Amino acid sequence: MISLPDSAFRRLSSLALAEAGLDLQEGKQSFVASRLQKRLRATGAQDFEVYASLVEGSDPAAVEERQYLISALTTNVTSVFREPHHFALLARALKALDRGRSDPLRIWSAGCSTGEETLSMAMICRCVFGPAWIAHARILATDIDYISLSIAKSQFGDPSLIVALQDGAAAALGTRGDTPRVDISDLQAGITYLRHSLIEPLPVPRPFDIIFCRNVTIYFAADIQRTVQADLIDRLAPDGLLCLGHSERLLIEDSDLRLIGQTSYAGKSSSFAEIVPCR
Ligand SMILES: C[S@@+](CC[C@H](N)C(=O)[O-])C[C@H]1O[C@@H](n2cnc3c(N)ncnc32)[C@H](O)[C@@H]1O
Repeated sequence: MISLPDSAFRRLSSLALAEAGLDLQEGKQSFVASRLQKRLRATGAQDFEVYASLVEGSDPAAVEERQYLISALTTNVTSVFREPHHFALLARALKALDRGRSDPLRIWSAGCSTGEETLSMAMICRCVFGPAWIAHARILATDIDYISLSIAKSQFGDPSLIVALQDGAAAALGTRGDTPRVDISDLQAGITYLRHSLIEPLPVPRPFDIIFCRNVTIYFAADIQRTVQADLIDRLAPDGLLCLGHSERLLIEDSDLRLIGQTSYAGKSSSFAEIVPCR
């Protein structure tokens, strides 16, 4: 394994911070070294100083290599119906917030990785609204990692994925044996994928009714985590639902959001939430 000297580590971690908000400042040197070995091989860089110079530039090759760098340094672990309590809450929110076919609900799966989270959300929409679910809700799925996104977009025929989605929905909704049979294409039809870094403005003007941003900001530097969360809150409708990941919590204390369940927050005028005291 090619070793990563301190100076190259500082250069690469600064880039990861600037591009993706990733906190690689302390104790992550061996992680970075091992994750980037394959990029050294792919680019032919003989050491990390050469690789850092290659990736720091502004020419198209450097811009492209930065995408590979970020892809190599992000953690993309995900699964169908991960943290299932959020999906029971999602179903409640969908029913309460539904505006009918003329104005579909706007849902954001931020940091969607390879798409299992987004497909699980779409499956709940399908169960709640029926075969014409995309008249009632649309999902935007974003991630910084273009490799994960391309996998997400191409999730279609795997029979075990369909079974996992149906079983997960049945468990979340308590409807075992009564979950509709679906094609992944019916779920994908209501999802739009977009490469986007959460530290950059999202080019979407209207607020979202529901935002899932789970197990993403945990990797960010603390100040960036706050800024991103403030942006998520700004983008959430006043009666909306925000779900974070199991080891994340809202760092913004003066927001109008209320904690309504495990890492789940509702806007102040929401009607779907049984309010529990904030912890
Ligand atoms: C651990 S996965 C979480 C996937 C899914 N939300 C879940 O909980 O199962 C974290 C995802 O966040 C993405 N990510 C990391 N930094 C990001 C950024 N600055 N903007 C958008 N996505 C980012 C990674 O590419 C990765 O796919």
